Order: sequence, then structure tokens, then C-alpha cells
Amino acid sequence: MTLADIATRAFSIEDLRRLTKNRLPRALFEFFDGGAEDEVTLRDNIEAFRRVRLAPKTLVDVSSVDVATELVGGPSAMPMAIAPTGAAGFGRHGADIAIARAAVALGIPYTLSTSATTSIEDVARAAPGRLWFQAYILADKEKLASLIDRARAADYEGLMITVDLPVGGKRERDFRNHLSFPIHYTPRNVLDFARSPGWALSMLLKGTPQMVNIRELNRGTLDGKKMLSTAGRNYDPSFNWTDLQRLRDNWPRKLIVKGITRADDAARLVNMGVDALVVSNHGGRQLDGGPATIDALPAVARSVSGRIPVLVDGGVRRGVDIVKACALGAQGVLTGRATLFGALAAGEPGAARALEILKDELTRSMQLCGARTIREIDQGLLFSRAGA
Ligand SMILES: Cc1cc2nc3c(=O)[nH]c(=O)nc-3n(C[C@H](O)[C@H](O)[C@H](O)COP(=O)(O)O)c2cc1C
Repeated sequence: MTLADIATRAFSIEDLRRLTKNRLPRALFEFFDGGAEDEVTLRDNIEAFRRVRLAPKTLVDVSSVDVATELVGGPSAMPMAIAPTGAAGFGRHGADIAIARAAVALGIPYTLSTSATTSIEDVARAAPGRLWFQAYILADKEKLASLIDRARAADYEGLMITVDLPVGGKRERDFRNHLSFPIHYTPRNVLDFARSPGWALSMLLKGTPQMVNIRELNRGTLDGKKMLSTAGRNYDPSFNWTDLQRLRDNWPRKLIVKGITRADDAARLVNMGVDALVVSNHGGRQLDGGPATIDALPAVARSVSGRIPVLVDGGVRRGVDIVKACALGAQGVLTGRATLFGALAAGEPGAARALEILKDELTRSMQLCGARTIREIDQGLLFSRAGA
């Protein structure tokens, strides 16, 4: 069966998640799917989207619907871009490029993670399109500056700074599963890996991927006793508003700040001159106990009041979630796991299938809501129990 055949067996993002679960060792699946501590925020991201109800307008001619829009100052085939997801290649070789190519083929922006398993330059060559580079605030400032320089040289349109990770979140599944990157083999995880022969064989034949952009930082092992992940030690917890201003002053292209849930932080970012912000809690992988992002969005959007684009991520699993996000004040969404599951289940055809599913559901939801363009999606589409 080809990857394209596998992809067409999925009719929802949940189908792609199930296909991924069946293909991967438990440790890897739980790394991609799981979150921090009790996973309260992770679950709430999805449940909060489900709690929002729409009030569909009827008797509108919806024979033609246009989902194309402007996103962070450029054209996009739909109000969506790809969120950065590190370590994707550990789930399937070439997953970064698979997602990037599917995104560029559709015509939406793609964000490459600092912790990607493909280099900044290789993605730019394989997927020429609207590319953003996500930078973690590394403790090694020279390394961080060189990554940003490389993104500039490779023509990335935007720099996305993730600010919700001064230290690594506590992801207990990874401790229990003995999972760290690079992968260190222990009796427990080898047994788990052996139960997924397809994945194990590809790792044996093609070699274990590496976080190539930060290869030299990534030495060491996960220290379960101290509950520290290797990656967690690479970040700079002292990074603050002054440091961000310096970054702003030195990066002339689009600067996007990701990881905001507070209205006052958002207002301050607008005054600082950032070009866009992402309401995000890192897909529930950092602070467990923060708000669902769709719940945090309205206050942030009110505070920004249209001065810069506000994006939101966390829990987008259906096209209708994009309608809800836009109705609540976002210019668009980012998808992390939805497109990641596509690529992990079935490579580039799988990533393309994830996008096709979300675009189809978005189009259909807009038709069912009487919205013909993205501009027509506004607060008026939100159902209010008070009947307002
Ligand atoms: C496996 C995985 C790896 C991630 N890696 C990064 C990363 O390297 N940088 C970053 O800013 N966010 C990272 N995130 C967070 C995503 O960018 C995004 O905020 C989150 O996945 C959105 O939630 P969703 O998965 O429900 O769509 C990662 C998320 C996952 C699931």
C-alpha cells in the first residue's frame, strides 16, 4: 500500500492520529500527542473549541465560497499556517519537508522549528514559499544569532520567537518511556521500539535523525532522577522584554511572537512593534494550568484591537475550529499536531491530506454558516445563550 493510499483512508484529523498511533512506538506517539503534567491544558484546548457554538445565517447564496485570505501581511490559501514542531523526523524521516512541501503546494505559510530534524537551508530549497523560522531563546547566544542569520540568508520571510518556554515543561510520559533526543537506548524503550517493526526498520536502514540545526547543543541524556530533559537545559530563562526589543531592532523582516495568553502582554508587544502574535500555550506542553487558547483569545484580540494580526493555536482539529477562531478575533490559526499526524501517518501525502481535510471542513462550515468569505466571519456568527 502506498503512502497516498494510506492517506486517503483518513477522513478526519482523528483518523490521521489513529494511523499515527498504530504506526509508532508508544514512546514516540506519546511524545507527539502528550502534554505537560496532568495534561489539563492540553485537553482543555480541544474541549474549549467544542464549547463554542455558532449561530448559522440561513438563506445566503453560498454556491461560491472563497477561503483565501491575508495572513500576517501576505496571501494565504486559507486562514492557517503551520506551527513549528520539533523532532518530527524521529516519527518519520523527512517529516519536516513533507509538511513544508504540502503547505507550500497549498499556499499557506510554514514554520520551521529550531529543534527540527531538517536544516534551515534544506527546507528553503525543498519548499520555496512563505517560510517562517521559529527561534527558541537559547542560552548559547552565538548559536542563536547564527541560526537567525542563516534564516535571513535563506530568505525566510518571518522570525517567530517562542516566549512560553523559559524552561522546559514537565512531560512525564517522556520520563516514563525513557525518551530523550538524541534517542538513548535502554532495555525498556528498545522493547517498545521493537513492537513497531516498520518504524524500527526505517530507523535502522536510514539512521536515527538528528536535530541538525542545534546538533552541538543537544548532547546528554534525559535525567529522570532530576526530572530534567536535555532540551530544557538549552534555554535561557533570563530572556525578558529588553532582550526581545533588541531582537526586534535587529531583525528587519516580520517578527512574530508566539506563546501569549495575556491581554497586557499583547498590548506591550504591539507597542514594541512586533508584526504579529500567536495566542498559544505550546499545545499544552509547557504550563499545565494555563487557559485554553480559544478562551484566552477574545481578551487578547480586544487589547490588540486590529493593530497587528493575532493568530491562535492549540486544539485545532476541525475546519469549523478555524471559523470559531476567526469569529473570536483571530486572523487565522496555526496547526501543530493536526498536520504533524498527517505526515507521521503517511508522509507528504498524509500532510497534504490533513490540509485537504481542514480546508474541506472549513469551506463546508462556512457554507453552513452563510459566510462566503473569511471577512464575513465575525462575532455575529457566535451563538449566545442570552439570545443577544
Ligand atoms: C511534538 C511537538 C513539538 C513541538 N515543537 C515546538 C517547537 O519546536 N517550537 C515551538 O515554538 N512550538 C513547538 N510545539 C508547539 C506547537 O508549535 C503548537 O504551539 C502546538 O502544537 C499547537 O497545538 P496543537 O498541537 O493542538 O495544534 C510543538 C508541539 C508538538 C506537539
